[in-house]
Amino acid sequence: MKIRLDSNKFYDVEADALVVSIYENEKPEDGVLKDLNERSGGLLEQIIGTDEMRGKTVDSVFIHQPGKIRARRLLLIGAGKREDFSLETLVKYTGSAARLLRSKGARSIAFLRRSSLNVESSAEAAVEGVMIGLFEPDAYRTNNKEERRIDELILTGIGPESESAAARGLERGRIVGEAMNLARDLANEPSSTLTPTRLAEHAVESANKFGLSVDVLDPARMKELGMGALLGVAQGSDQPAKLIVLRYSPAAAVNNEVIAIVGKGITFDSGGISIKPADGMEKMKYDMSGAAATLAAMQAIAQLKPPVNVIGLMPASENMPSGNAYKPGDVLRAMSGKTIEVVNTDAEGRLILADAIAYARKLGATRIIDLATLTGAVSIALGAVNVGMMGNNQVFLDELRESAREVGERFWQLPMDDEYRDLIKSDIADIKNSGGRYAGTITAAWFLKEFAESTPWVHLDIAGTAWENDRKPYMAKGPTGVAIRTLVNYVCNHAARK
Ligand code: BES
Ligand code: MN
Ligand code: ZN
Repeated sequence: MKIRLDSNKFYDVEADALVVSIYENEKPEDGVLKDLNERSGGLLEQIIGTDEMRGKTVDSVFIHQPGKIRARRLLLIGAGKREDFSLETLVKYTGSAARLLRSKGARSIAFLRRSSLNVESSAEAAVEGVMIGLFEPDAYRTNNKEERRIDELILTGIGPESESAAARGLERGRIVGEAMNLARDLANEPSSTLTPTRLAEHAVESANKFGLSVDVLDPARMKELGMGALLGVAQGSDQPAKLIVLRYSPAAAVNNEVIAIVGKGITFDSGGISIKPADGMEKMKYDMSGAAATLAAMQAIAQLKPPVNVIGLMPASENMPSGNAYKPGDVLRAMSGKTIEVVNTDAEGRLILADAIAYARKLGATRIIDLATLTGAVSIALGAVNVGMMGNNQVFLDELRESAREVGERFWQLPMDDEYRDLIKSDIADIKNSGGRYAGTITAAWFLKEFAESTPWVHLDIAGTAWENDRKPYMAKGPTGVAIRTLVNYVCNHAARK
């Protein structure tokens, strides 16, 4: 898709469709709406405020041959209350518009900028919205495949003083949107094709393309390093585990910090010997969404080149039952030296993360963000709306939450009182891998905290938000690419903060 700015007046932009947002209770009395109303022979006056166009975010009106504007069609789309308008709304309405216009056969679409949000971030959000919106998980379809394409995305209504900021935003949007869709493709891929080995190959490919260094640890090296927790999980699978490490080291970093992003890469979670019920088990191919987000963020960071060191770690394994599988009652020795009593083989994510977090510290990480589809309990607590966030350093948590807010993602912090730690005490080892049903998201975080030790660390539980169960106007059903935009934004903010 070609992405460009157009400095012509909105009515002179050459496109199949021009998209104009309409706020609630707005009247076409001044500015571009007045102009557009006159050019369309009073159409806006007739439409805006009717039940068809109340300005609510679900409203849209599609008009052919709209009068004296060059675009062949006009899409009016509700943008909600003007005072509530945010980057999140922008991502959604550009996504909805792109999906709708593609279904109408439009090939080139132009968005008219109307909000007063920051030019660079809104240009970025518009491109991301469109790219997220147009993504279709139909690689395996042989019929009813979406064959229609949008070839050109145009942004208009940007003054000459803001053009360079807008151009930067468009480029960032393209980079981040592409990375998100890569992560979504990976999460959709069946586990029979996306094995830990294949995931590592994807990481190597991306590293070579964008200039990251890469190291893939195989089980022999894990064994040398004493990674008994990761190896314990992998033991039941015929597929060898991989610990994939991507490294971004800019020539001129502004400080000595090394930010580590650690993503859970279970390419299939059957539960192991503590096997999951059959219903819905097919979805457990997306249990590598944390690793996919890590790869995506690293790929975007490599292109955006913020002056700060970042490493991405992806512990990858299947979790399978077999004669070799680890079993409830087993005790594993993690790389950090801590011993873990396995009480449930389905609590495997925290085990592979324990060794990856310890390895991140060994590689010199000064702060760690891990993200994982870790607990079903986070969906009970926060639904599909908020990412669950926990950590050991409030300043770090606040910074990350602010980075999420800036890009329109929602993270919600859960408490980590010491009492929750009691739930994962073991009778025979240092710690056990499950605290049972109560506060499941928090006890999982407490487990990880034991391995982050003194390093500032934030844990993101994306089990509820990494998969969208319903088709939305702005997005296909399936993997969402959650947290990627926040991670990239956090790293860039951190580099700017010095
Ligand atoms: N991958 C699952 C978590 C999950 C569940 C993600 C549902 C998405 C949807 C994780 O490995 C898991 O099985 N967690 C257990 C932990 C329990 C055994 C302590 C869970 O949440 O039930
Ligand atoms: Mn599990
Ligand atoms: Zn899992």
